[in-house]
Amino acid sequence: MTAMLEVRGVTKSFGGVVAVDHCTFSVAAGSLTGLIGPNGSGKTTLFNVITGYLPSDSGEIRLDGRLIRKPDPTWLYRQGVARTFQNARIFPELTLRENLALAIPAGWRMLLNIAISRADRERIDEALEIFGLSPLADHRAGELSYGQSRLLEFATTLMGRPRLVLLDEPTAGVNPIMIEILENHIRRLHETGVTVLLVEHRLEILMRLCETVIVLDQGALIAEGPPERVRRDPKVLDAYLGA
Ligand SMILES: Nc1ncnc2c1ncn2[C@@H]1O[C@H](COP(=O)(O)OP(=O)(O)OP(=O)(O)O)[C@@H](O)[C@H]1O
Ligand SMILES: [Mg+2]
Repeated sequence: MTAMLEVRGVTKSFGGVVAVDHCTFSVAAGSLTGLIGPNGSGKTTLFNVITGYLPSDSGEIRLDGRLIRKPDPTWLYRQGVARTFQNARIFPELTLRENLALAIPAGWRMLLNIAISRADRERIDEALEIFGLSPLADHRAGELSYGQSRLLEFATTLMGRPRLVLLDEPTAGVNPIMIEILENHIRRLHETGVTVLLVEHRLEILMRLCETVIVLDQGALIAEGPPERVRRDPKVLDAYLGA
């Protein structure tokens, strides 16, 4: 299978801390790949490097086989790479509709009370509908529960019609019902052909969703394979139990 994303020997240090240590792996086009590792093992830093929020010290990132010389978040978003953050990033003072509008090219017009196109309006309504947020469309995002704000962030991420989505612990701190809802949205996203890289601590969720799981420990990749195999890998058990 062709790789949508290739990470080759990527290293990123903060002072003396090697957060990501010569990481090499690929994410197949159309796959749903899990990324796990103990707290502080470098998962978020890796996401930040891949999506251009942090420069790497060394290594290569390729998208569709093309070397990305200087990853830049805005440019990558236009290339179809979208992500969520470990703590939902939404604008609490803006309505749900406005939050979604800001994720599409001319959507900022809505904030100035300038009409946006009918197609864009319909897209926003559709996203609200899919994520069950229509009744709250004109409420401020700050009024949402934590789980709902994660849903809104997820919906926002999809407004740019991405091909590759990186999700950083979308279900962390969310109640069991909302976990199931988020899980179904992740599954659906994958079924529509979008490639997904998912940071998730709960192995049972990864067992249900992923064919492949990548495991980081202290910045280094220590295991890669089907979740059933990875969970029995002695190196993985050591990393978790020894942490
Ligand atoms: N901006 C930063 N400045 C300094 N050190 C950082 C910075 N970001 C991350 N680190 C350090 O890099 C290491 C990896 O952190 P990172 O947040 O990537 O881990 P993580 O696997 O996402 O952890 P968690 O599961 O807690 O989210 C940690 O030692 C962390 O303290
Ligand atoms: Mg993290």
